[in-house]
Amino acid sequence: MSYNLLKGKRGIITGALDENSIAWKVAEKAHEQGAVFVLTNAPIAKRMGDIDILAEKTNSQIILADATNVDDLTNLFTKSQEILGGKIDFVLHSIGMSVNIRKNIPYTDLNYDYFMKGIDVSAMSLHKMLSVAKKMDAINEWGSVVALTYMAAQRTYPFYTDMADIKAMLESIARSFGYQYGLEKKVRINTVSQSPTKTTAGSGIKGFDDFYDFADRVAPLGNASAAACADYCITLFSDLTRMVTMQNLFHDGGYSSTGASKDVMENLGPRK
Ligand SMILES: NC(=O)c1ccc[n+]([C@@H]2O[C@H](COP(=O)([O-])OP(=O)(O)OC[C@H]3O[C@@H](n4cnc5c(N)ncnc54)[C@H](O)[C@@H]3O)[C@@H](O)[C@H]2O)c1
Repeated sequence: MSYNLLKGKRGIITGALDENSIAWKVAEKAHEQGAVFVLTNAPIAKRMGDIDILAEKTNSQIILADATNVDDLTNLFTKSQEILGGKIDFVLHSIGMSVNIRKNIPYTDLNYDYFMKGIDVSAMSLHKMLSVAKKMDAINEWGSVVALTYMAAQRTYPFYTDMADIKAMLESIARSFGYQYGLEKKVRINTVSQSPTKTTAGSGIKGFDDFYDFADRVAPLGNASAAACADYCITLFSDLTRMVTMQNLFHDGGYSSTGASKDVMENLGPRK
């Protein structure tokens, strides 16, 4: 349903690979709420994913950019403003990748080249984007930047290995940059800490399905879907949340505040 919450707003949406991607749902909902935006992803994603379908559906253009490459990001912000006809009002950072996770490398034995790659792609890319945007003065006052994160930044989930540390860094960048950008330009920066979600990135994690079920049984509302996450992101891009910045916001059906759930306790078998 459209409330025209983003009418007149211009955005950049990263990370839509296929229809399961959280960013895909954000793009659909942003379109529904009246926004215009550019879709962006790494060049390889154009070959592997379905981003063309989304672009057609939402009447948007695609600008390929490797989020670790400052020249690509400069081109992204330059061209986006040309295409959309002015400064940007919202940015979704929906980028995550860990080679250590992909290759099932245990946390205590990480490959440091892969670790560096994961940091660059999944955390430092937010800093690079914000730095490029700020230097170009490409984001309007009261603009809103949202990056997606996971609660492994606060609590340990053994299978999340280096991504836990990387997400902690991502959340810290949102706070640190949020202070500077807020002070100078009133640009707000938040992270949304989402439930486990069945996407390409999510399903790459070993034991993901069991963990998905566990989280679903802990959270009183159950796991939050990608579509619900997109709704939440839309509110953060809208003018209704103008004074929210530098926050890590849990969007997880109550999971993060639940110690023990009835469902998990009642189904706990004898200790093995
Ligand atoms: N799926 C989950 O369980 C879950 C839970 C909490 C947070 N998140 C976060 O949500 C975000 C989106 O992930 P998703 O679950 O929708 O999976 P996804 O695989 O659909 O999206 C990840 C995106 O990152 C893009 N990407 C990778 N390397 C890139 C690069 N160098 N430059 C530009 N883009 C690049 C991929 O092409 C892909 O589109 C990630 O930050 C992820 O950590 C996911």
